[in-house]
Amino acid sequence: MPAIVLIGAQWGDEGKGKATDLLGSRVDYVVKFNGGNNAGHTVVIGSEKYALHLLPSGILTDGVVPVIANGVVVDIEVLFDELEALTARGVDVSNLLVSANAHIITQYHRTVDRVTERFLGKRQIGTTGRGIGPAYADKINRVGIRIQDIFDENILRQKVEGALEQKNHLLVKVYNRRAIGVEEIVSDLLSYAERLRPMVADTGLVLNKALEAGKTVLFEGGQATMLDVDHGTYPFVTSSNATSGGAATGSGVAPNRIERVIAVVKAYTTRVGAGPFPTELFDDSGEYLRSKGFEFGTTTGRPRRTGWYDAPVARYSARVNGVTDFVLTKLDVLTGLTTIPVCVAYEVDGVRVEEVPVSQSDFHHAVPVYEEFPGWSEDITGARTFEDLPKNARDYVLALEALSGSRISAIGVGPGREAIVVRHDLLG
Ligand code: IMP
Repeated sequence: MPAIVLIGAQWGDEGKGKATDLLGSRVDYVVKFNGGNNAGHTVVIGSEKYALHLLPSGILTDGVVPVIANGVVVDIEVLFDELEALTARGVDVSNLLVSANAHIITQYHRTVDRVTERFLGKRQIGTTGRGIGPAYADKINRVGIRIQDIFDENILRQKVEGALEQKNHLLVKVYNRRAIGVEEIVSDLLSYAERLRPMVADTGLVLNKALEAGKTVLFEGGQATMLDVDHGTYPFVTSSNATSGGAATGSGVAPNRIERVIAVVKAYTTRVGAGPFPTELFDDSGEYLRSKGFEFGTTTGRPRRTGWYDAPVARYSARVNGVTDFVLTKLDVLTGLTTIPVCVAYEVDGVRVEEVPVSQSDFHHAVPVYEEFPGWSEDITGARTFEDLPKNARDYVLALEALSGSRISAIGVGPGREAIVVRHDLLG
């Protein structure tokens, strides 16, 4: 099998782990191609729950090579914290590869992220405060520090000086903060060099060779389509390309290698942080979805905003990503509802529109047009085939499939790894 991309179709936290588990041991490489430690997936090791933010989930599967590719921004302190915590729990982390071209998140990026948000006041993005945006901004401004730079002290010092020159003016004169010292940053980064060296590789070359050799490579997108810096609800987005195209630029593997694009979509919608969300609920139904679906952020613990399924968003995702298969998650959260509204279109200024509006202000005041579907009360967590689901649950899934622009190949019916209904093989 060739390259497969796995991404989120909505605003994140769709439960990508379900799909990763399903692909499991049939994958040889798991590649993180965008974002940084703003992501979060909860993993269970033995009886312990553990939240990973930076490392690709493949780190937990024996025999899989986990890769942090060039499109990622790496907070090295977090990287080693996560590696140490996993080692302490008996996980072998020695396979990990980190791209020499990945950019580094430093202390000044974290500082700038937090002060900028504070100064934005009401216009806050609600970032995770991990320095993601400022690190990507430096990359695009060509003043970023890359992993390879920490192996050459002179180059590193010059680059840190260059990066801090403007930032210190900003921190001191605009934000009334203390200046950050060049040596402080340089010595911190150098302290990781020898531990990092064995992991650093030309990961683009490694992945292309693996594909030539017939290996299966899974590209795991961080965040999700509607948080993509180009295709999401800008400016309420993250600073990287979380859509399938990001897998190519973020890894050095060409787009024509990618044969499968799997998008994970929740049976309802959630979002953290600010920004438009047409189907958001402010009533008891919203609270019901939040508490029944445990909708609280893995990275920040923030309660997630909740709402009904938005089919135009799913259709948009299918188009932007070239989705071949959807994995629908958390269907069981809807069990017990009498009727389930699904947004099938919007009304903008009294006019019905079928697609996500390109204009930011139109999307901000788009009013959902709902169709109601009958609910079910039977416990579905034990369902393992489509026929095991009650008729109303099957009809709900078939309606979403018809509205969302691609087939629904698997359905999550409960929190456990095994709680999944497979309709089409994701690798077949
Ligand atoms: P940043 O990625 O920290 O810059 O945050 C930008 C926006 O993306 C904020 O609304 C965050 O809440 C959101 N965000 C970032 N990472 C995730 C994620 O993994 N899941 C859901 N939302 C996220």
